[in-house]
Amino acid sequence: MAAAPGGQGSARPAPAPVGAPSARGAGRFAVSGSRRSRALAVAVQSSLAAALAVADRLDAHADRLAGMSGGPGDDAALDGAAMGPGSVFARATELVHAQAAGLAGAGWGAPAWAGFGPAADGGAPGGAAVAGDSAARASYRPGLWRVGRVLVPGAARAVPLALPLLDGGNLRVTAPRERRAQAVDLVRGLLTRVLAAVPAGRVELTVYDPFELGAGIAGLAPLRAAGVVGPTLTARTALEGALAELSGHVGRITVDRLGGSFANLREREEAGLPRSEPWRLLVLLAWPSLPDESARALLGLAAQGPSCGLHVIAVTEPDALDAPPTGRAAAGPLPNEVALTAVGETGDRWRCSLAAGLDAVLDGPPPAELVAAVASTVAGVATAAAARAPGLAALLPDGLWEFDSAAGIAVPVGFGADGPCTLGFDDDTVHALVGGQAGAGKSTLLLTMIYGLAARYGPDQLRMHLLDFKEGLEFAQFGPREADPFFLPHADTVGMDSDREFGVAVLRHVRAEMSRRAVAMRAVGARDLRGLRANDRASSWPRVLVVIDEFQVMLTPLDPVAREAVAHLEAIARQGRAYGIHLLLASQTLSGIDALDATAGKRGSIFGQFALRVALRTSISESRVLLSTNNEAAGALSGVGQAVVNRRNGHPAGNELVRVARPDPDTLATLRPRLAKALAATVDAPRPPRVFVGHAPALLDGNPAFAELRQLGPGTAAGGPDPLVFVGVPLDLAPPAVGMRLSAQPGRNLAVLGPLRREAIGMLQAAVRSVAAQCPPGGLRVDLVTAGHAERGAADDLAAVLRAAGTAVTVTGTTGLAGVVTETAAEVTRREGTGGGDQDGHRGGFPLRLLVLFAADAGRAALEAPSGAGRRTGLDDLRQVTRRGPAVRVHVIGWWRGPSRLLDDLGPGHRDDFAAWVAAGVAGGDLFALAGHRTVAAGTATNRAVLFDRHAHGEPRTLVPFAPLDAGLDAADGEAGLPAAGRAGAVGGRAGQATRWPAPPSWPDGAGAPEPGRSPTSG
Ligand SMILES: Nc1ncnc2c1ncn2[C@@H]1O[C@H](COP(=O)(O)OP(=O)(O)OP(=O)(O)O)[C@@H](O)[C@H]1O
Ligand SMILES: [Mg+2]
Repeated sequence: MAAAPGGQGSARPAPAPVGAPSARGAGRFAVSGSRRSRALAVAVQSSLAAALAVADRLDAHADRLAGMSGGPGDDAALDGAAMGPGSVFARATELVHAQAAGLAGAGWGAPAWAGFGPAADGGAPGGAAVAGDSAARASYRPGLWRVGRVLVPGAARAVPLALPLLDGGNLRVTAPRERRAQAVDLVRGLLTRVLAAVPAGRVELTVYDPFELGAGIAGLAPLRAAGVVGPTLTARTALEGALAELSGHVGRITVDRLGGSFANLREREEAGLPRSEPWRLLVLLAWPSLPDESARALLGLAAQGPSCGLHVIAVTEPDALDAPPTGRAAAGPLPNEVALTAVGETGDRWRCSLAAGLDAVLDGPPPAELVAAVASTVAGVATAAAARAPGLAALLPDGLWEFDSAAGIAVPVGFGADGPCTLGFDDDTVHALVGGQAGAGKSTLLLTMIYGLAARYGPDQLRMHLLDFKEGLEFAQFGPREADPFFLPHADTVGMDSDREFGVAVLRHVRAEMSRRAVAMRAVGARDLRGLRANDRASSWPRVLVVIDEFQVMLTPLDPVAREAVAHLEAIARQGRAYGIHLLLASQTLSGIDALDATAGKRGSIFGQFALRVALRTSISESRVLLSTNNEAAGALSGVGQAVVNRRNGHPAGNELVRVARPDPDTLATLRPRLAKALAATVDAPRPPRVFVGHAPALLDGNPAFAELRQLGPGTAAGGPDPLVFVGVPLDLAPPAVGMRLSAQPGRNLAVLGPLRREAIGMLQAAVRSVAAQCPPGGLRVDLVTAGHAERGAADDLAAVLRAAGTAVTVTGTTGLAGVVTETAAEVTRREGTGGGDQDGHRGGFPLRLLVLFAADAGRAALEAPSGAGRRTGLDDLRQVTRRGPAVRVHVIGWWRGPSRLLDDLGPGHRDDFAAWVAAGVAGGDLFALAGHRTVAAGTATNRAVLFDRHAHGEPRTLVPFAPLDAGLDAADGEAGLPAAGRAGAVGGRAGQATRWPAPPSWPDGAGAPEPGRSPTSG
């Protein structure tokens, strides 16, 4: 009966360890000489071993009582301790109580379970372990599990029967079909104890139940959603898949965790190393009929699994043992098993291999309500624990900005099996790619990295461009907001709901920075950033990190914008290393980015440079694209914030499992003020980042460029530079407002084109207001004419604002249109007649005069009427003003609802009289001629316009038109698509300054502009 190779009836061996119990039926596998058994033996806690030693003695004693066993030698071995039967039983009982303590051994009605009752309606959960308190989680060590009682003939009381399982061995329960229900009850009771006692989330179940399809353990259903229990396997193929996956875990743990240094995870844990692997239970509610290969996998799991925290519980029928050797595995003894076998086809007697000569009876099944309560409590705690990511606090350095970025930058982002996991950007891992399905935690990972880096490196060591192409406002926290003036000291650009063109402009800017660094490096003979920093100590050469969330948006559809983006990404990916410029790109999907696939090799030439990959939960196919074709690991991740980190271009051998930390509000509440304080202490006039919010309306009030005009104040136009006419905010890194200049040159009129009323009115109003801001009292006269009725309100609003600021304004309706035009033409003639004296300092000698036409084309009929003597009409007057007005400081700013209507009104040969135009909602093809035969690709999207100024020799540029004065309409539109957080003031909402720029230090020369050569306006 002994497990020793000596065989039956020989002297009793030393106390057997868990995993190689002195199990009668286990003789074939429990070879004490095998390396594995020895390894297991070493690992088992001494008290557990002692308990089993007692069980052993119990076993032997039972043998003796039953008269089954041999000679005096046995007795001598057993009774060397001179323990009488009574004391052996007492000791066994005591040890079982100690080893199956708490929920592992409590009767179903015991108070220990009370916590699970009310838990369902919100009370505290049961065990401390379940409660998820972290000390309890870490210190938890499984012992024995009570399942019933051993009946000892002649003894007054039965001895509790407790079995080893976790960190112990496997369990095989054999019962004829008639008593299968008892076996399933036993398993259900055992699982209930395990789930209740083991800290939630630290044990995972895989259940195979081809007969009852999971009915026997239906009470555990709530655990499925929490990821504690996988879907019930009912088909053999599904089981085979699970066996392969579990074998993968065992293989990985054996190599990575045990690595020849430890016999099992328990031993490793006792050596002080963290245990991150959960226990895994493979529950077979029927013995599967498996092909050879899978049968071997199952036996292999049973053999090697226990040292890796994987245990098999199998319910079998007796005849399965006698199944003919058809190549299918019979339910023979499992390696490392404890066997529990029903005695007879009826009744309640069992035999356990731990007390082989004695009958045992099982405890009753757990009450269904208790199972349900345990399941829902554990599910709740497991879900909460999964959601409760490790906090950022543990990963932040004590002091701020203490790291140097010369060799690279690195930041811990979460916890792996061996402690904090650090991601770095340096010469080896230059760029990083983050992937994962929606909600997997990509943006959270980016935030964790950004804050972590911001805490470690000073703004002189690291600069960041933060772009988010999603509608979310995650990055809003890095720019100043109305309610919170904090901004990330390291951020140069913050783009939310970013425009693709804006994204490209940022990449263009970064590429220009590369060129700038290349020149500087050549000058000092340096070959990389480190060399540059060493040789040019006068300037700071920070590393630059470009973070782009959902970057694929920028590359779809495949158009000129996408092509330019790909070209920049490729250049930065390939050359960034030398210049200390790094990309951190995140995406939901990497497959199907046309722009990468259309150009053969682009995908490889870009992502080949991304040695660092972080894959959050995603599909298997995405995992293959994100990591590498043979790496499906990210498809198997179950929880939010779980990641596969790979620093080897996605090669499977480089996979590391990491739990990503979350920037929790408490930590940020201290970190952000610390960053602000540190910045204030080091920089006199800190510059906030440029913040761009794609969907937000552009508001003239609060625009820094407009503010600056106002500040410079009246007089700018007198003797100063020609007045600027602002119409919108550019989609690139140029200064914060663009438009044209009203100089005394032919063609200096502005046409606003297109059918979109809101955009057109907003731009007209902003244009006139910006001019007014630059004119001294009496230096400007504005005639507002509304050719359509609908625009009267907009004209009145504008007039009110202008008058309040002291500008002379007239407002005229449709009927007065022709009169005003004719009068303006007469004024032009009059001014021409005076010869343009320069006496009063006005350029051209005249005060500025604006003829502002709202929906000019609606006045066509009125203008066609004769305006004076002969055949002269209002149209002729208009043409005179546009042709000859600018030279005498009379300019037209007018809105035509389509380019052709403007051209009709101007007549042939007058096209050049409007050298500048801005169009919203006009197809590019219709603007081709007006743009000097250039392709116009933008300006048709919502909240966008395109500006062209022939005299500026530029290309058509996209902009966000300034919103109309009637901002109620505008803000409502702007907010429509905002998530609640955004509406709560993240970007300012209604009254807010939605698009914010730092005031350029020396506007309007554009000295603060990041791209030299681009003038602040195109005029
Ligand atoms: N590491 C984490 N630990 C705990 N919770 C997390 C973690 N990461 C993300 N979450 C939570 O999951 C949710 C989704 O996260 P996140 O927005 O980062 O995902 P995402 O992959 O960027 O999703 P999307 O594709 O929708 O942008 C958030 O509510 C967040 O609080
Ligand atoms: Mg996201």
